Amino acid sequence: MEQEPRSLRFAQFSDTHVRCDERYFRNVDSKAALKKAVGMVPGDIDFLVHTGDLISRPADPCSYDAYAALIAAAPCPVWHIPGNHDDPRLMAEHVPGCDTEYPWSFLLHGVRFIGVDSSTGNIDGAQIERLRVLLQSAEPCVLFVHHHICAMKDSWLNQFALENAGALCGVVNAAGTRVLGIIHGHIHHQAQFGCAGVPVFSTPALSAQFDPYGAFLATTQEPPAFTEFEVSPDLQELRARVHHVEESHQTGGK
Ligand SMILES: [Fe+2]
Ligand SMILES: [Fe+2]
Repeated sequence: MEQEPRSLRFAQFSDTHVRCDERYFRNVDSKAALKKAVGMVPGDIDFLVHTGDLISRPADPCSYDAYAALIAAAPCPVWHIPGNHDDPRLMAEHVPGCDTEYPWSFLLHGVRFIGVDSSTGNIDGAQIERLRVLLQSAEPCVLFVHHHICAMKDSWLNQFALENAGALCGVVNAAGTRVLGIIHGHIHHQAQFGCAGVPVFSTPALSAQFDPYGAFLATTQEPPAFTEFEVSPDLQELRARVHHVEESHQTGGK
């Protein structure tokens, strides 16, 4: 009997903002949220990717060690890219499996996954050039970046977007292959955009959620969450499903 084509599935964590010396990030117990989320990741998932802001500034070894101790319980391989709160060198020294060279890429079940470093607020020219080459590959691609690239109407978050989003969109649009999606964190808010000519997914934070249309740095009472993605068996489409981590949302925190 012919077997059903296998769906490729992965989970995305982002913006955990763990600190060894603070229990709360805003009003969320970030270490408790991460611990619960790791326990919720399906055991048969292909991999997990963390799209940055593992910890909160200032970057220190102790906070990366606290993060590493919690993510070690994940039931699958874990990939990381840094966010603007991260120090990529320190992160690589203290979190097992972190890369020191970006973009990283790997091929899994016919899909190429690529992670870039935007921790400085932009993607440097050398990475853009590597990306241009990687996107010429014959396989469909999925791209991970920390920062958002699409403007949000009248939102205070626009000032924190990727500085050279145009360069990134340029290489994506010129790609010789199909880009199934660009996946990011950073805005602590679930959304889906189409500004780059391909689907762009933003995951909720695995800590406090921002209100993009409220006052500067305003947060909401929505719980921490992460996203599970499935690549359709024909490798044509990316589907997202959010998992909320209800019990970790605290009131009375900072
Ligand atoms: Fe963040
Ligand atoms: Fe960020």
